[in-house]
This record gives sequence, structure tokens and C-alpha cells, in this order.
Amino acid sequence: MAILVTGGAGYIGSHTCVELLNAGMDIVVIDNYYNSKPEALNRVKQITGKDFKFYECDIRDRTGLDKVFDENKIDAVIHFAGLKAVGESCKIPLAYYENNVSGTVTLCQAMADHGCKRMVFSSSATVYGNNKVPYNEEMSTGEVTNPYGRTKYIIEEILKDLYASDNEWSIALLRYFNPIGAHETGLIGEDPNGIPNNLLPYIAQVAVGKLEHLNVFGDDYETPDGTGVRDYIHVSDLAVGHVKAINYITGRTGIDAINLGTGNGFSVLQLVHAFEKACGHKIPYVVAPRRAGDLAYSYANPDKALRLLGFKTERDIDKMCEDTWRWQSNNPNGYDN
Ligand code: NAD
Ligand code: UD1
Repeated sequence: MAILVTGGAGYIGSHTCVELLNAGMDIVVIDNYYNSKPEALNRVKQITGKDFKFYECDIRDRTGLDKVFDENKIDAVIHFAGLKAVGESCKIPLAYYENNVSGTVTLCQAMADHGCKRMVFSSSATVYGNNKVPYNEEMSTGEVTNPYGRTKYIIEEILKDLYASDNEWSIALLRYFNPIGAHETGLIGEDPNGIPNNLLPYIAQVAVGKLEHLNVFGDDYETPDGTGVRDYIHVSDLAVGHVKAINYITGRTGIDAINLGTGNGFSVLQLVHAFEKACGHKIPYVVAPRRAGDLAYSYANPDKALRLLGFKTERDIDKMCEDTWRWQSNNPNGYDN
């Protein structure tokens, strides 16, 4: 029995593979390497001392998926594969709907036809839109402001319809807050293509001298220091959450949306100062205009994850910055070293 990990060579996928292997689970990984490199999986093997099967396969390729299910006994799927850049999704929305939405439909069809009806899906806190913080799972969703976020909302709805049509399914919709950090060995981490869109990868590239300064998008929000507040979660904590979600969906049926966050918010400037402590020098920044679509606050109510999964984060903001710095300084060019 194995867990199929789609998008397993990516940032969150690679860290989750480490935690699944460390928990003694067998895994099979598929990825089309659209946004990742084979070296990430070599390093997963290096960290864990364990081997696993890999297929270079696109989730939209039904024939390729059938081969994976025919050749392996798959017990459950953790579905990370997808496109995730908000700005890009506004420019090429159809590519996002095709890859994320159609890809998930094809994957679910292959799963159903092979009698595999357990899935952990990578959703996002973005589905909460403009609700009041802290976000809880009972709140309305769907008021998203960009095509990327809408794919997450649509996929959640598709999976709810799927469960309603066939109660043998067991599905966890994991709503991630802001994953940052890297594995503590410094061997795997986030390796964005081009100039990073997200805050911590940007700060890390300023710290290592690849970028000149950080642009702080707005200092006039109604927050304590005027900058945006987010719920940053260490990627290794997030990965452990997936192991717990696999245990939860096994031996039961149903569909649950579950937040994976810490419940604590940190502002842009707090994160900058935490990173300065980790890297030992100042991070130059300038205040820039607000970024369209950004909210003042986003943070989780993490109670349901504790109640259903027994999940609680363990790594604090200093650890998130230390581990990112170790990864970034050891691998200034990511996996291209
Ligand atoms: P990532 O880009 O590092 O990983 C995604 C992986 O999926 C990549 O390795 C990519 O090559 C692969 N992939 C993409 N399309 C594919 C396809 N059609 N077939 C096969 N493989 C494909 O991204 P990540 O940060 O690890 O995110 C993983 C998942 O979590 C994504 O679904 C993302 O939307 C979701 N998510 C991420 C964040 C975040 O901040 N990183 C937050 C919320 C949700
Ligand atoms: C972004 C995505 C969101 C996704 C989430 C997952 C956007 C608009 N939203 O959210 O869909 O679910 O990542 O992690 O991209 N900031 C700066 N300077 C920068 C970059 C960011 O000041 O160069 C600020 C932002 O204004 C925000 C905070 O840092 O206040 C965090 O930004 P980011 O890392 O991009 O994450 P989110 O916007 O929360």
C-alpha cells in the first residue's frame, strides 16, 4: 500500500515526502517538473535514506495515470500538483483552469476507476476572501479575487459534489495559510522561478545579495505597524499535517475542510526583523504602494486541525527564518548549484 503524491517534487510536496517516509509510509511520486527539478527528489532520498518510485507524468494525462495505478497499489492520494502564481493566473486564466481544475477531474476519474477514494487536497486560505479574521472552516468561501484562488474554490466544490454522489470517498481539503521555511538540513527548500512573488523568498534573496531591497507593499493598513499581517507556517509543520490528514481519512469516509495555520499573525516588518536576526545583517527595504488584491489580515483559527487531526504547529517564526536562511545561503541558486 502506498500514498501517491502528485506534485511531489515541488516545495510543499518534497517536504511532505520526507515526513511520509519518516513516518514509515511507502510513497509513489508523480510530477511533470513544470515548476520543480529532479534534484529535489534526490535530496528527499538523501535526507531520509529511503527510495521510492517516481513517474514523470502530468495529471491531465489519463493514460499515464492509469499506468501509475496499474503498477502500484495506491491507498490514498495527496494532491499538490497545480499552478500557483496569482499574478500569472490573471494573465493566463485558461491555463490555470485547465491544469488545476481539469487536471483534478482527470485525477479523480482515474482514482475512482481504480477503486482509490481517499484524497488529501492542497487548498488555500485564499478561499476565505474578505471574511473576518481569524478564519474558521464554517465561514463562507468563494469570494476570491483572482483565477488561481477561484481554481481552489471550484475544486473544493467539485470534491464536495463527488462525495455527495458517492459516500465511499474520504477527502480532506487542507486550507494552507502562508507556508515558509525549509527542511532543517538545508537540503530542500523553496526554489522559485525568476523574481519571487511571495514575501519570504523575496527577503531571502535580498539577504543573499541577489536582490537589492525589499518593497514593502503598503504601510497604511489598519494593523499595528501598518503592514500586512499573515499566518506563516513552517513547511515541515505543514508536511506533518499531511501525514496526520492521511491517518485521519483512512478508515473513515466523509469530506472535511481543515485549516493548517498557527493561529498567529506576523506583519511584514516583524518578518523582516526576524529574518535579520537569523541572517545577522540588515534587510534593506523601501515602502511601496499596496499590491492589488492584498488584505490587511489573514490568519487561521487552528482549532479544527487540533480536534480532528491532533495537529498543532511546533516551529516558531525564528525557526522558520533560520531554516530558510540555511537553505538560501547553502543553495543561493536553488537546485541549480
Ligand atoms: P510548487 O509549484 O512548488 O509544487 C507544485 C508541483 O506540481 C511542481 O513540482 C510542479 O512541477 C507540479 N505540477 C504542476 N502542474 C502539474 C501537472 N499538470 N502534472 C503534474 N505535476 C504538475 O508549489 P507548492 O508551493 O509546493 O504548492 C503545492 C500545492 O499547494 C499547490 O496546489 C498550491 O496551489 C498549493 N498551495 C500552495 C501555497 C504556497 O504558498 N506555497 C499556499 C496554498 C496552497
Ligand atoms: C499569497 C497569494 C495567495 C496564496 C498565498 C499562499 C497573492 C496576492 N496572494 O498570499 O493567493 O494563497 O500567497 O502563500 O499573491 N509583501 C510585500 N512585499 C513583497 C511580497 C509580499 O510587502 O515583495 C507583503 C504582502 O503585501 C502581504 C505579505 O507580504 O502583506 C505576504 O505576501 P505573500 O507572501 O505574497 O502572501 P499572501 O499575499 O498572503
